[in-house]
Amino acid sequence: MSDPTPTRVLVTGAGGPAGIAVLRSLARRPDVELLAADMDRYASGLYLVGAAARHLVRPGLAEDFVDDLVALCERERVDVLFSTVDVELPRLAAERKRLDAVGTTLAAPSLETLEVCLDKYALARRCADVLPTPRTALLGDTDPDSWDYPVIVKPRRGAGSRGVHLVEDAAALRALGRDEDILVQAHLPGDEYSVDTLADADGHVVAAVPRSRLRVDSGVSVAGATVADPELEETARRVAAAIGLVGVANVQLRRDADGRPALLEVNPRFPGAMPLTVAAGVDMPSLALDLALGRPLPSHVPFTELAVVRYLEDVFVAPADLVPSEAPR
Ligand SMILES: Nc1ncnc2c1ncn2[C@@H]1O[C@H](COP(=O)(O)OP(=O)(O)O)[C@@H](O)[C@H]1O
Ligand SMILES: [Mg+2]
Repeated sequence: MSDPTPTRVLVTGAGGPAGIAVLRSLARRPDVELLAADMDRYASGLYLVGAAARHLVRPGLAEDFVDDLVALCERERVDVLFSTVDVELPRLAAERKRLDAVGTTLAAPSLETLEVCLDKYALARRCADVLPTPRTALLGDTDPDSWDYPVIVKPRRGAGSRGVHLVEDAAALRALGRDEDILVQAHLPGDEYSVDTLADADGHVVAAVPRSRLRVDSGVSVAGATVADPELEETARRVAAAIGLVGVANVQLRRDADGRPALLEVNPRFPGAMPLTVAAGVDMPSLALDLALGRPLPSHVPFTELAVVRYLEDVFVAPADLVPSEAPR
């Protein structure tokens, strides 16, 4: 007989597309009881779970964010915690033991993996010897005359394409001054892919699903397609090995002038476009839950080629059922 006690899973970042993708995937599992959290009472994913399972949490950067979330996990007897928010992830991974102590397993890569991914300079250095990686240097520490132009300039710890520029010549690069928080990177001129990658507890890659972004609106992929390309999959596998991935990451690649897929960056979390990967046959949130529960994963999960177009959806609730602005303590 199967265990009648459901696994209680809390998903943070319920207002974002990644949080909603994880909630939707896990909602299909009969053995799971879902809870959702966000810092914003209007986060739509809160309303995909029952009224008693909606929780407001502190902003990921707030001093008391971790204390608050650990207390919530303890109070609500959360078995597995999924965070879909960049700024929350390293803070929670640093406190994994405290979560373990209240009976909550954090379903996220190790702190070491998160830290190397969130620093694009560290990541490029880590990967340079094992896969095609564009030349990358700190703006404060490179000779503008030593580059082929154009180059890309971007923040060392950026997100959402903020602060990414094309710089056309050495004079323009020199004019940017010297800043240790800004990277200079060789420009990759080819097609771009995101590869959703899942590695098991031994670091073995169970699935690597490349997606092309057919249309992007304000940084959000609104049309895309999975692409069966062994070279893209193999490149993502090498990235996973280089960063010691256990769990899910989104490996971003772009073809260089020779057509080889090269490393752009790694987001060590679920991407907003995860529903396409799930629909193509690889239910990564569900597999990541099994991994967090210590269950064995299949050695390989295949995917089909599939395209998606996306739209916004409405969730209706009685005004009285909106989460109050102060979370009850
Ligand atoms: N070296 C590069 N060559 C070409 N395009 C780049 C390069 N680096 C970044 N870009 C473009 O900028 C976007 C954002 O850069 P990325 O490294 O993914 O940082 P983030 O998404 O964290 O802001 C990429 O999706 C890509 O389109
Ligand atoms: Mg990116």
